[in-house]
Amino acid sequence: DPELVAAGEKVFKKCKACHQVGEDAKNRVGPVLNGLIGRQAGTADGFKYSSAMKQHGEDGLVWTEQTVEEYLADPKGYIPKNRMSFAGLKDPEDVKAVLAYIESQGG
Ligand code: HEM
Repeated sequence: DPELVAAGEKVFKKCKACHQVGEDAKNRVGPVLNGLIGRQAGTADGFKYSSAMKQHGEDGLVWTEQTVEEYLADPKGYIPKNRMSFAGLKDPEDVKAVLAYIESQGG
């Protein structure tokens, strides 16, 4: 859905300070978001995660539309002591849009 992707590109402005996605994406303050959906939490190559994020992945957390939505609704509530300094996205529609954008870029 091109409209959803366009809306998601706008939402992604909130993520861009820390995250990249796409062909030339690199880890920055936050991990690259390529291949996000279906990825075990805390496993982007070469990124130094908090132990909280790595532990959640080892305990079975996999990023899906639902788990990303729950995480972004309240990052510190969903994964206490994770290192993402971001208040989150309260509107599930924003999460849907940003994921559509991320997936359109190879995420
Ligand atoms: C981690 C998404 C905004 C910094 C993550 C993860 C996701 C995510 C899904 C887990 C990745 C993984 O397990 O590989 C997003 C989205 C954002 C956003 C969609 C915008 C809506 C930000 C911002 C910052 C940031 C603004 C910096 C101020 C980080 C850091 C981590 C992380 C440092 C790793 C946390 C840890 O290791 O505990 N983000 N993020 N993110 N993000 Fe974000």
